Amino acid sequence: MNPARTSVHGARTGIGRAHAKSILLGEHAVVYGTPAIAVPLHALDLTVRVTERADEQLHLRSALFTGSAADAPQRLHPLVTAIHAALALTTSAPIGLDVEIDSAIPFERGLGSSAAVAAGIARAIGDLTETPLDPEVVHDVVMAAETIAHGRSSGLDGRAVASDVPIRFRGGEVTPVPVGAPLTFVLADSGHEGSTAEAVGAVRELRETFPSRVDGIIGRLGGIVEESLDRFATGDVPALGALMDEAHSLLTELEVSDATLDRLVGAARGAGAAGAKLTGGGRGGCVLALAPDAARAADLETMLRDAGATRTWQTTVETA
Ligand code: PMV
Repeated sequence: MNPARTSVHGARTGIGRAHAKSILLGEHAVVYGTPAIAVPLHALDLTVRVTERADEQLHLRSALFTGSAADAPQRLHPLVTAIHAALALTTSAPIGLDVEIDSAIPFERGLGSSAAVAAGIARAIGDLTETPLDPEVVHDVVMAAETIAHGRSSGLDGRAVASDVPIRFRGGEVTPVPVGAPLTFVLADSGHEGSTAEAVGAVRELRETFPSRVDGIIGRLGGIVEESLDRFATGDVPALGALMDEAHSLLTELEVSDATLDRLVGAARGAGAAGAKLTGGGRGGCVLALAPDAARAADLETMLRDAGATRTWQTTVETA
């Protein structure tokens, strides 16, 4: 056995990592089959450490809960599902596990924390059992957890947290997005949790009530994604910002924004952002702003915090 895989007590251990993601364009519409673009947030990541136990217990240690998995609160059920799904896929799985999660990804902020935890768990259990980590196997584990976390989802989060580069996602298909110049984004936390499942359900109801209007909005959100691809390729920051602004207006029409998100979007634009919008499910969660250039990102962060953002982060999408 590889000594690096054993704890001080000689028990087998495994480590798995994953990062957060932010949806740049196309959220909500993607549920109806249009494309979306997501970027990795490498600065917000998590580590899962699993250690074999001598008994048959499954024990969790995370910021939200420490104790037996059987007593875990409902919000951790996706995580427990991911553990069982990953164990079921391995042949040499231990019967008891300590699962320790050290995460910098805020929960329920549209940043993919549930998908990232599930990916980290799958990778950690794969590491412990020395089972080769097929990305499709990791994805299956993530989707088992995401179905519990969000109900029926497009699958975008699961792909986005596992990709190191920006992706275009449509109907389960993933392609990398070529980027012609570095793009610096500022992410601002509204401080409010957003329930993706509730927001997706609200859009579904709105579509049932006003089918042609909502389908028109969905179609345009998908069109914005397709238009943005050329802008990414050429690194056209002003044009990308304008598309983000338009996407935010359309998401507001879908009733998934709220007063805090609108205020932060307004503050970002007032502070010179090339564009700004809510990101992810909305109704709480985060705002994503595109800085006109990297040098202005710190000012943008300050202005967003002055406008009430509880936390801000910067991320740069490099040319690829
Ligand atoms: O709130 P998040 O970041 O998990 O994003 C959800 C994205 C939606 O398009 C609203 C739902 C989905 O399943 O794609």
